[in-house]
Amino acid sequence: MSSRNNSLHVYGPWAVITGASSGIGRAMAVCLAEAGLNLVLVARQESILSKMCRDLENEFKIEVRFIATDLSDPESFQRLIAQTQDLEVGLFVAAAGFGTSGKFIESHLDEELNMADVNCLAVLKQVHHFAIRFQERTKSGIILFSSIVGFQGTPNAAHYSATKAYIQNLGEALSVELSPHGIDVLTTAPGPTSSGFADRAKMKMGMAMTAESVAINTLRKLGRRHTVLPGFLSKLLVYIMTGLPRWAKVKIMGHVMHGMASTIANTKTKSEPIADDVT
Ligand SMILES: NC(=O)c1ccc[n+]([C@@H]2O[C@H](COP(=O)([O-])OP(=O)(O)OC[C@H]3O[C@@H](n4cnc5c(N)ncnc54)[C@H](OP(=O)(O)O)[C@@H]3O)[C@@H](O)[C@H]2O)c1
Repeated sequence: MSSRNNSLHVYGPWAVITGASSGIGRAMAVCLAEAGLNLVLVARQESILSKMCRDLENEFKIEVRFIATDLSDPESFQRLIAQTQDLEVGLFVAAAGFGTSGKFIESHLDEELNMADVNCLAVLKQVHHFAIRFQERTKSGIILFSSIVGFQGTPNAAHYSATKAYIQNLGEALSVELSPHGIDVLTTAPGPTSSGFADRAKMKMGMAMTAESVAINTLRKLGRRHTVLPGFLSKLLVYIMTGLPRWAKVKIMGHVMHGMASTIANTKTKSEPIADDVT
């Protein structure tokens, strides 16, 4: 991190990062490698993780392992435990996650259930495991990813925003509970960020922060804050709505999300008109 953040050494020698193959998790991996921590990278795409391992080891002279696994698969949790058991892990970063957008009644239940598994249940199991392990250390850290949509209900991303509210509440509470054990819990709530997220969620972002700036601004606050709004855009979007009643925030966020989701829908209608005729 120009970024170089030597204070992160106290969370070493090993950090585990889920969602490390892309976007913010990948940027976190680079920042932590630069700070000299050894890494375990977790995501599904094996070829990307394997190349990242080689590149980070060569560039930063650290040790890097990877676990290619689908975190919605219950067996992935056992693999994560087994493959990190021999390591002195002091930092856990739960960046894996994805979103959906559009009308709730048009959503696919299987995809929403999968999102609950990845965004919530997998994180619950992982945090439970590492919090117990981290009690043995004098200092350790857990970084969770909520979102600015997690601070209120967000129509047109109703279930995604609910998964992020789950993470926000979990993180806020654990930051207080785990602090006496020397465990710093930080929940980061980014606004729109350029990454693989928008494509998978079928959203179009007008303004967006870089994944690197989210990672740097998050890591700077570890051990200093319980929640961080990383970067100017996240702060702006939250502070604009400060003081409004919750129902008004819900309406505003619904309009914003409708714009982000419908841009994609309109583009598809224009470029794929024949598909509807065929079915
Ligand atoms: N981008 C935004 O605007 C934004 C805003 C607020 C919060 N966030 C949150 O920030 C976090 C990181 O998102 P991002 O923006 O960096 O998105 P991204 O570029 O799409 O990265 C998501 C990461 O999660 C991994 N992942 C997804 N499903 C997985 C599964 N079933 N099992 C294992 N790994 C899985 C992906 O790796 P594989 O594909 O290799 O599995 C990838 O490494 C997410 O929790 C997201 O909700 C993002």
